[in-house]
Amino acid sequence: MILGIETSCDETAVALVTQDGEVRSNVVASQAELHARYGGVVPEVASRRHLELVGPVLSEALERGKATLDEVEAVAVTRGPGLIGALLVGLSAAKALAWSRRLPLIPVDHLHGHVASLYLEPGALEPPFLCLLVSGGHTLLLDVRARSGYHVVGTTLDDAAGEAFDKGARLLGLGYPGGAALDRKARDGDPDAYSFPVARVPGFDFSFSGLKTALLYVVRDLPADELERRRADLAASYQHAIVRALVERTRAAAMELGGQPIAVVGGVGANSELRAALADATLAPLPLCTDNAVMIASAARYAPAIPFPQYLALDAYATAA
Ligand SMILES: Nc1ncnc2c1ncn2[C@@H]1O[C@H](COP(=O)(O)OP(=O)(O)OP(=O)(O)O)[C@@H](O)[C@H]1O
Ligand SMILES: [Mg+2]
Repeated sequence: MILGIETSCDETAVALVTQDGEVRSNVVASQAELHARYGGVVPEVASRRHLELVGPVLSEALERGKATLDEVEAVAVTRGPGLIGALLVGLSAAKALAWSRRLPLIPVDHLHGHVASLYLEPGALEPPFLCLLVSGGHTLLLDVRARSGYHVVGTTLDDAAGEAFDKGARLLGLGYPGGAALDRKARDGDPDAYSFPVARVPGFDFSFSGLKTALLYVVRDLPADELERRRADLAASYQHAIVRALVERTRAAAMELGGQPIAVVGGVGANSELRAALADATLAPLPLCTDNAVMIASAARYAPAIPFPQYLALDAYATAA
């Protein structure tokens, strides 16, 4: 059994996963409410909260998995990318735990983790496939040939898709983090009410910053009562523009790679319009789209382990190497 720890942003998460990819427990403590009043994650606040939560979340993951530390064979942990202080809390906890039990430590890349949310039973996905990774910090098209890694074929030139959702939600007064709230609001609106053009950049890259500016101008020019009346239409049209851009590029890339099957992972993978538009694709299970430790433990099954006690000086990284 692998024990996974994830603390890269504002979720403190611990999970137990077997070598065969069965999930034994999945505990996620979200700090979203703590950061809501600041309109974004405050790194130092996040680190301190991780420190308070990591112990209790670990205990609960063992309890829910009806397991003891004796059954844990390896400790997996997110090493990066993410907020460096937040990452260091999880990494230090993982080192302490592994060292005290003389266990190996498996450092995991957070993005590899998102992809590995597809490798769990029942129904684990077998490469090759083209993976659309859409999260708060990344928008990537990945050519996946083996479970141990991937090759990047497209990325965003500016904002990530999740960032576009969050900024749009903020402009529409839907709170933080706004992706899920915008998704809910859009259900009552007309996706064709407004036309928000998405920049078409060469190759398989994405660009979302112009879209956000377009929404800003529309919102700024609407009287307050009119904005209230058109909020759902604006949400639906804005979401439609993001989803259309994601789907078009993804399908084109899959075709270019010789008709690869498509898979979707990451927080924006929870979006209902995106899931409907790519209903023929493999979609990460809803609870595993946003950050969790199950995906980290899953990725660890395909990553090299560092034997006891060689990992004590291991460092975290904030951005991808
Ligand atoms: N239903 C939804 N529709 C659209 N966006 C959503 C939905 N649910 C969550 N999101 C967005 O997903 C993002 C969070 O995803 P995730 O937890 O994977 O990102 P992250 O860990 O912050 O970033 P990264 O993985 O790139 O480091 C947020 O931007 C959030 O608004
Ligand atoms: Mg993430």
